[in-house]
Amino acid sequence: QRDQKDLIYKIHEVANDFFIEQLWDAEEGQQIGLSYFRERELRQDIIKKFQLGYSPEKKDAFTEYALAKGYDKDILEKSGLSVFPENAPKGVDRFRERVMFPIHSFSGRVLGFGGRILNNTIKTAKYLNSPETEIYHKSNVLYGLFQSKQAISKQNLCLLVEGYMDVIALHQAGIEHVVASSGTALTVEQIKLIKRLTENVTILFDGDAAGIKASFRSIDMLLSEGMNIRVLLFPDGDDPDSFSRKHPQDYVEDFIHKHAQDFIDFKAEILFQNTDNDPIKKAEAIREIVKSVAFVTNGLKQEIYLKEVANKFKLSEQNLFNELQLQKDYKD
Ligand code: GTP
Ligand code: MN
Ligand code: MN
Ligand code: MN
Ligand code: MN
Repeated sequence: QRDQKDLIYKIHEVANDFFIEQLWDAEEGQQIGLSYFRERELRQDIIKKFQLGYSPEKKDAFTEYALAKGYDKDILEKSGLSVFPENAPKGVDRFRERVMFPIHSFSGRVLGFGGRILNNTIKTAKYLNSPETEIYHKSNVLYGLFQSKQAISKQNLCLLVEGYMDVIALHQAGIEHVVASSGTALTVEQIKLIKRLTENVTILFDGDAAGIKASFRSIDMLLSEGMNIRVLLFPDGDDPDSFSRKHPQDYVEDFIHKHAQDFIDFKAEILFQNTDNDPIKKAEAIREIVKSVAFVTNGLKQEIYLKEVANKFKLSEQNLFNELQLQKDYKD
């Protein structure tokens, strides 16, 4: 069992080297993969820092390579890198004709991959990720943590973004204290990984409906784990990647600094957009904000946040306190 796990780690190293070599040294990788990264304005040093790669179009390019190196079918299958369906018993690659993003553990071992299609118009999932394996549990991993951990400690702050490209683009812009949940809903295990380095998180999600929904959920998760949070959604459909390519580094840093709000102001701004001054809708919005305050673990902080809500909406603290108790009872 131990041996099998070691082999799965090992084959991920082999696969990572293979995808990197395909990107830099093979004609197909250069013409398709490297030009894709060039179009997205990634520098060579950043492509190398994140060990980005390319998986060829040929349907068994990696499988054939790994089998020839002596890895057996069973390990290839358990690693999630190959599949052996009945109609193709020799095996086919999971990742084909994609740019490859290796996902590292805290200490830098490759656990799995994300692969992005090159042509947005194709009607398949934009990103394909490794399946759950003996070494890859997506709920326990944060993309970019390995490359960002020192900066997170140093800045005593972790920026939380949605996607692979957001992490990479911010690094390229010199902002290196950043990780991504990679499209999955933030988990307690992921928060605990951040908490080893800092208790301060700024959520930087896409400014679309999905981003808003994910930020509401993440706020409550982070508060329950005792984290201090601020939130910023990028304007006009931008994400950290597109935004950081439109503006100089200083501007991006200032923008994050100036526009990140505490969770009360952030939720209020969003929830009050559609209340039309209707008292019932307003009460509903305030209840939704108090719901998040109920997740704050520290009693002192909780009271201060509750006072902030009272001041902001000119309500009595007693009234809000009663609502808070209701929310807490509801949770138990
Ligand atoms: P780019 O188009 O490359 O800039 O991607 P993005 O990161 O901006 O994509 P988006 O905001 O749509 O999604 C954020 C993250 O969710 C991605 O980086 C992926 O980790 C994940 N994701 C997006 N689309 C898919 C998908 O089709 N399948 C899976 N499994 N994950 C996805
Ligand atoms: Mn395990
Ligand atoms: Mn999005
Ligand atoms: Mn995005
Ligand atoms: Mn993007």
